[in-house]
Amino acid sequence: MKDLLATVKSNKRIAENIHMITLTLPEDCGLIHGGQFVNLSTGNGANLLRRPLGVCISEGRDISVCYQIKGGGTKYLSTVEEGRKLQVLLPLGNWFDLDDFKDVVVIGGGVGIFPLIATIREHCNNKNFYSYIGFRNAGAVCLEEELKKSKKLTIVTDDGSYGKKDNAVSAYLKDAAGIKADAIIACGPPVMLRVLKQKLKENGILTPCFVSLEERMGCGMGACLVCVCKTADGGNARVCRDGPVFNIDDIEL
Ligand SMILES: Cc1cc2nc3c(=O)[nH]c(=O)nc-3n(C[C@H](O)[C@H](O)[C@H](O)COP(=O)(O)OP(=O)(O)OC[C@H]3O[C@@H](n4cnc5c(N)ncnc54)[C@H](O)[C@@H]3O)c2cc1C
Ligand code: FES
Repeated sequence: MKDLLATVKSNKRIAENIHMITLTLPEDCGLIHGGQFVNLSTGNGANLLRRPLGVCISEGRDISVCYQIKGGGTKYLSTVEEGRKLQVLLPLGNWFDLDDFKDVVVIGGGVGIFPLIATIREHCNNKNFYSYIGFRNAGAVCLEEELKKSKKLTIVTDDGSYGKKDNAVSAYLKDAAGIKADAIIACGPPVMLRVLKQKLKENGILTPCFVSLEERMGCGMGACLVCVCKTADGGNARVCRDGPVFNIDDIEL
């Protein structure tokens, strides 16, 4: 883990309320895997805490993260211009480890798609991805070219303005019987992950399933316990240090 002063290479809007910022690191930190995240200073002294963002593209010394404008931190971040320097702590957390799997179902919703894109990019040459991606509406659709690196891609929207009107979990379940998957990976809003866990159980789908969680964070490195989630055995886990990727059976959603 390193705390580096990175240079903003670009910072642009890619969909409604979503921006992609590309940072050039002062040194090569190797490939940052899908699921791993950075703790990025927003560049505004008023937002002292850094913001956790999943890495979407890792290429040499450049990393790109995509962020939805939610509150003060991301709003300010969207105003940061090319050439500015931002402090970034990376790489943080674990990742989707697909070493033992070949055919992988990907279920993503909203800003949860970004770590999934990093995973698809990393493995698309030797694994088959069957991706089910849900967006709010047509205006929120982004990075489709990256998602198309999947062997099969189904995009759905809440209002049917792009693709079918559906959600990602339900779209997957309609196809599930026809896909011989070795693993399922997912990232999205808590309600999506909760429904996924419930539906896998109801449908007797025993395929190993790994999810990446997004909790509010403080330090991002295991020290402050702001990000604790409940584990299935009644214990606690730190999302930043023990995750953010967990086996869906090991955590409470
Ligand atoms: C491991 C990890 C990876 C993430 N990856 C991405 C990503 O790739 N793209 C992206 O857009 N966002 C991502 N997030 C969420 C992102 O960190 C928050 O949206 C961001 O910190 C909000 O900062 P803010 O100052 O704009 O909003 P704040 O003013 O801090 O909060 C605004 C609203 O967002 C909610 N919020 C704040 N932090 C989180 C959080 N961690 N999860 C859910 N809701 C939150 C608050 O409850 C509040 O309602 C990730 C979070 C984690 C933990
Ligand atoms: S954010 Fe501090 S322990 Fe996880």
